[in-house]
Formats: sequence, C-alpha cells, structure tokens
Amino acid sequence: MGALDVYRARQFNLSNLTGISDETLEMHFKLYEGYVKETNKLNEKISQFLKDGKVDQEEFAEYSELNRRLGFEYNGMVLHEYYFDNLKTGGGTGDPANASAFRQAAEQSFGGYDTWKAEFVGIGKMRGVGWAICYQNPMNGALSNHWITLHETGNVAGFTPVLVMDVWEHAFILDYKPADRPKYIEAFFSNIDWQIVERRLRQAKAQPIAA
Ligand SMILES: [Fe+2]
Repeated sequence: MGALDVYRARQFNLSNLTGISDETLEMHFKLYEGYVKETNKLNEKISQFLKDGKVDQEEFAEYSELNRRLGFEYNGMVLHEYYFDNLKTGGGTGDPANASAFRQAAEQSFGGYDTWKAEFVGIGKMRGVGWAICYQNPMNGALSNHWITLHETGNVAGFTPVLVMDVWEHAFILDYKPADRPKYIEAFFSNIDWQIVERRLRQAKAQPIAA
C-alpha cells in the first residue's frame, strides 16, 4: 500500500457577497473544514483495518460502518469546494451573458436558459437536506439538474459538476428564515462566478470514443 492521501482544507477568497453575509461564510468554512478532518480520520481508521492486508471477519461490522460514512464525508468535502469556487467574491453579475457557453449548453439541453434555470431553482426548493447540482455528461455534453440528498445520494457517476448550490439550512440560516430558502437561492444566483462554471464546462467537453 502507498502512503495515505491526506487532504488539506482549502482557503477561499470569498467575502462581500450579495445577500450572503460574511458571518455565514465564516461558519460555512468551519463546517467544510470539519468534512476535511473527518475524511482524513476515516481514511486513517480504515487503513488500520487493512494493515494486515485483509479485513478480518470480526472487523467487518465496524469496517462497514466506517466505509458507509466515507461517501458522506468525502462528498461533503468535495461539494463544498465546488460550491465556494462557483461563488464570486464581491458578488457576481447575475445570469450568464447571452453568447456564453453555459447559455448555449443550457439551450441545447433544455430548449432555453430560462427553462434550465426554472428547473435548477425548483430543485433547490425541494424539501429535504441537500444540494441542487447541474452536471454535464462528458460523453455527449448534455446538462442535467439533480437533487442530492445529504451529500452522497443522487450524484451521477462520471458526470461533471458544473454548478453546485448548497441548500442545507446552514448555508443561509443566519441571513434568512428557513421558509425563505427562495430568497437565498436568488442571492446565490447573484453571486455566481460564471467564468468558473464555464471553465468546468470546457473541461467536460465530449471526448471521441476510441474505436
Ligand atoms: Fe454546506
């Protein structure tokens, strides 16, 4: 076995957003650091079970529980990085420009940007604890919007997250009442860094399939 990967919490240059306070961001960064810490802790504990090259029968119950938690902690870490990255310090410019690559992709997949947005916002308002994520299928470039329960249920294997919106209450509870999630979603949109979103798109361009 090689050396264990240890993750470090990233620092995000993010403040002065529109409608999302610095206090919220500070609290949110701390929560994110917790996911990084727990991911490292789980990987370390799991590696202990593998020290002798196998998972023994009597180890299986504990090992299974640790392994099930991996998806929660890992995705909690990674999705927060996508989320903070797709926000723009000082606030954004609202919807993407008319000729932008994202608008074109949304038009191709949804018939129009407004339809794409209506669905993404609608998913963000779904009852429950989780995320709204717009993915791109790297095989054909198509965009699709998905509800993710907690951090790990609903992610599509191999799809690229393009726009990631945290709708856990901790993302807005210092700024809005629980019932005012739509106001937070509006604020989220006014802070999107579309350059970052489009960079993810370009990376996700369809690759020709080898014959
Ligand atoms: Fe969060």
